[in-house]
Amino acid sequence: MRKWLCTVLAVSMLAGILTGCGSTSDQAEADAPAVESQDTETVADAAEVPDDATDAVTDTTDTQETEAQTVSEGKTLVVFYSATGSTAAVAQTIADTAGADLFEITPVEPYTGDDLNWSNEDSRVSREHDDESLRNVELTQETPDHWEDYDTVLIGYPIWWGTAAWSVNNFVKDNDFTGKTVIPFCTSASSGIGDSGKLLAEMAGTGDWQDGQRFSSAADDQDVKDWVYSLNITE
Ligand SMILES: Cc1cc2nc3c(=O)[nH]c(=O)nc-3n(C[C@H](O)[C@H](O)[C@H](O)COP(=O)(O)O)c2cc1C
Repeated sequence: MRKWLCTVLAVSMLAGILTGCGSTSDQAEADAPAVESQDTETVADAAEVPDDATDAVTDTTDTQETEAQTVSEGKTLVVFYSATGSTAAVAQTIADTAGADLFEITPVEPYTGDDLNWSNEDSRVSREHDDESLRNVELTQETPDHWEDYDTVLIGYPIWWGTAAWSVNNFVKDNDFTGKTVIPFCTSASSGIGDSGKLLAEMAGTGDWQDGQRFSSAADDQDVKDWVYSLNITE
């Protein structure tokens, strides 16, 4: 009897241990998916970030980019048109000296050497000179990026037949210069700036246009720098 009882007790204890082990193992297995499920929820949670929170993150990034751009941009913009490089060189010196941004006016159809041959009465410039209705020069970009940020705009051009090269006309007509100080400059073989700035101011109809400055086609760098310093626009 005692032997039988011992056998029963031993068997039930063994069963209990085995059952206990089993439940520990089951618990571990049950925990593992729970962890996975936790991980899944974490991913799901991330995916379920409200749209506006995502926007907030995006907005922060945008703001940082905007601030970086604002820091890198000056409040002065040097705009220029140049057919053969002389005005471009002056514009670059002005921008470097003033710490200003640079914007090139570029015609959709750039002027070739033949186009610029003013001694040929059939050349593009000669025909445009003779017929003002042909001077509607389409531009690749009418308005510089962040135009509204600039309060001083210098605008440069070559002199053609005593006036501003008409490649700048559409730029001047199609932009709003309200609240901006505008300073013309030009390069030429020998002519002065004449009324070219005044005529552009009339075309624009807005902006506070100042007297301009003429430089020779092979302008001296120091002359250009000295002029910029005299304007008190360096940043
Ligand atoms: C069609 C044409 C007309 C020009 N007319 C004049 C002029 O009337 N007076 C003058 O001094 N230079 C004149 N020039 C010379 C340019 O004004 C001068 O070379 C200028 O520096 C060119 O600038 P860019 O290289 O930026 O185009 C003319 C040049 C061209 C192509």
